[in-house]
Amino acid sequence: MSKKEDKHLTTAAGVPVADNQNVATAGKRGPMLLQDIWFLEKLAHFDREVIPERRMHAKGSGAFGTFTVTHDITGYTKAKIFSEIGKKTDLFVRFSTVAGERGAADAERDIRGFAIKFYTEEGNWDLVGNNTPVFFLRDPLKFPDLNHAVKRDPRTNMRSAQNNWDFWTSLPEALHQVTITMSDRGIPRSYRHMHGFGSHTFSFINAENKRTWVKFHLVTQQGIQNLTDEEAEKVIGKCRESHQRNLLESIDKGDFPRWKMFVQLMTEEQAAKLPYNPFDLTKVWFKKDAPLIEVGVLELNKNPENYFADVEQAAFNPANIVPGISFSPDRMLQGRLFSYGDTQRYRLGVNHHSIPVNAPRCPFHSYHRDGQMRVDGNKGSTLAYEPNSYGEWKDQWQLKEPPLALDGPAYQYDFREDDDDYYTQPGLLFRLMSPAQQKVLCENTARAMGDAPEMIKIRHIGNCLKADPAYGKGVADAMGISLDKVK
Ligand code: HEM
Repeated sequence: MSKKEDKHLTTAAGVPVADNQNVATAGKRGPMLLQDIWFLEKLAHFDREVIPERRMHAKGSGAFGTFTVTHDITGYTKAKIFSEIGKKTDLFVRFSTVAGERGAADAERDIRGFAIKFYTEEGNWDLVGNNTPVFFLRDPLKFPDLNHAVKRDPRTNMRSAQNNWDFWTSLPEALHQVTITMSDRGIPRSYRHMHGFGSHTFSFINAENKRTWVKFHLVTQQGIQNLTDEEAEKVIGKCRESHQRNLLESIDKGDFPRWKMFVQLMTEEQAAKLPYNPFDLTKVWFKKDAPLIEVGVLELNKNPENYFADVEQAAFNPANIVPGISFSPDRMLQGRLFSYGDTQRYRLGVNHHSIPVNAPRCPFHSYHRDGQMRVDGNKGSTLAYEPNSYGEWKDQWQLKEPPLALDGPAYQYDFREDDDDYYTQPGLLFRLMSPAQQKVLCENTARAMGDAPEMIKIRHIGNCLKADPAYGKGVADAMGISLDKVK
């Protein structure tokens, strides 16, 4: 085919298009003809171009990169991604804001998603984390409520400080995450200028099949940089895609962002003796209990050629783990194991695994067959059942994890009954801040609570007072509410 012919416009079936400027009509001034099949195809495709946005984390940016091991942790995990110093693994990262829709501004006060897909030789490992080490909730049953509270009001179709803060302040376990979100770190200057956290406790399994609990940290090498509320307003006034632009341009010009990966480790015995619940997502592990251990470096060095293909269609799932890395009893993590694959089967279809950005880069041999949009050959004529007499793809019992000891009868246990300390850690965080940071936290909170009713503001002051009297007083002063009103 000549170069000139290459440039020819065709239909989806590859047939040359004769006229892409005029529809066919009956006579010069007459109505259109149903037989204008090019018009029908073009419009029908256009009518279906938008796919459902992610239920949350809808606005995001992505890039490809590599992970390089710099330190040996093979004593704790047999995951091949960590098998030797210097080993490199390809990856894809998608950053996001949480509450805003697909067209929302980037520089909003919100937590940020930091989702990583490592294309390891043993399959994909997805670490679907945030830029904060904790979360608002401890129980996954509350997750839909959280999102209904922070997204749009059903009547006004506007974000509502009343709904948002009514919910947050009614759940004392949210105070730690609320404190971080309202702090000076609540609006990162860009996705490059923030840390990442796996947040949950996960597990490592080593070659001796011994389990160690683990938390993952990604420390930005660009340094932490944030925007004040005032700066963010100006940024949004000029560019709603400030984070997208920053990431895209820095990678385009060869200034590749990097994060160092660290882990915190805890044996099962240590975790059992910890004075706080090691699987509580509203709490951090103190560094004195589990110091940071360096593991490797993550670098982003390639922008996607096509945003929709790679970023919009990316499907991260905490259920994607590899031998040597696994789950923990954290209820929130357990709940997430269902939700992501489920939403992706709806958002992208049952065969979303074979979309190039999601497909493993190692051979994969499941017996799943058929389904909508199966475009990878459907495993041709290979057998589609197991057991079979021909040695086709067998499970590998040697990879079974060690048994996990559990106790107690099954029940909907109220986690508050045996552990209702949601104030110690936010209090410690408050006291770690400089006086200037404490002031900013209180002022940001007052602005964010905006026109929420006074009784909700008073409830929040009450929660903050329990964390630290100066925190409660600072928020009360910033809102002009007398502490006498707080019981
Ligand atoms: C996205 C559910 C908690 C981080 C999503 C999506 C769902 C979801 C349904 C959309 C996924 C998609 O359409 O592909 C839940 C549930 C949770 C929970 C049910 C709690 C029970 C968390 C937590 C974190 C987190 C604790 C971080 C530690 C993310 C990130 C994304 C996301 C980063 C965006 C992934 C991407 O870039 O495609 N979540 N989530 N989520 N979630 Fe969660």
